[in-house]
Amino acid sequence: MDLVHHLLVLLHLLGMAAVVGSAVFVARGRVTPALLWGARAQVLTGLLLVGLLEAGDEPVNHPKVGVKLVVAIAVAACAEIAAGRSRRGAGEQVTLVHAAGALAVLNTAVAVLWTSSS
Ligand code: HEM
Repeated sequence: MDLVHHLLVLLHLLGMAAVVGSAVFVARGRVTPALLWGARAQVLTGLLLVGLLEAGDEPVNHPKVGVKLVVAIAVAACAEIAAGRSRRGAGEQVTLVHAAGALAVLNTAVAVLWTSSS
């Protein structure tokens, strides 16, 4: 169970790196596969982590993961809408791609700075 937990945290961090890296440093308005799949992976790995923590003895900060879920869905929505528009030939989606990156940075800040558990 510990190994699964650690692997999920690893995937969660790689997903964060994919979204923030693509949106903020690489993509410049383009929707990369890393951005899209990273955004999807964050929702999935985050929910799996919560399930795993709930199943074990670890306390889960419910308000914190609730906020993270809402923000992560907004990140995924920005990425999906941007991908859909560029598939239909609408060109670069600078605002949506940057919004996805900024929201992912916000979620990273929530993950690291919101420390009290409840
Ligand atoms: C864009 C979306 C997200 C980003 C950028 C993100 C970022 C992070 C980061 C950087 C950590 C490590 C923090 C640390 O260990 O100090 C973390 C941990 C965690 N995240 Fe997320 N997260 C996202 C979405 C989610 C979602 C949707 C959920 C659940 C609903 C979630 C649940 C968790 C949990 C439970 C941990 C603790 C893992 C552990 O140490 O056992 N995250 N997240």
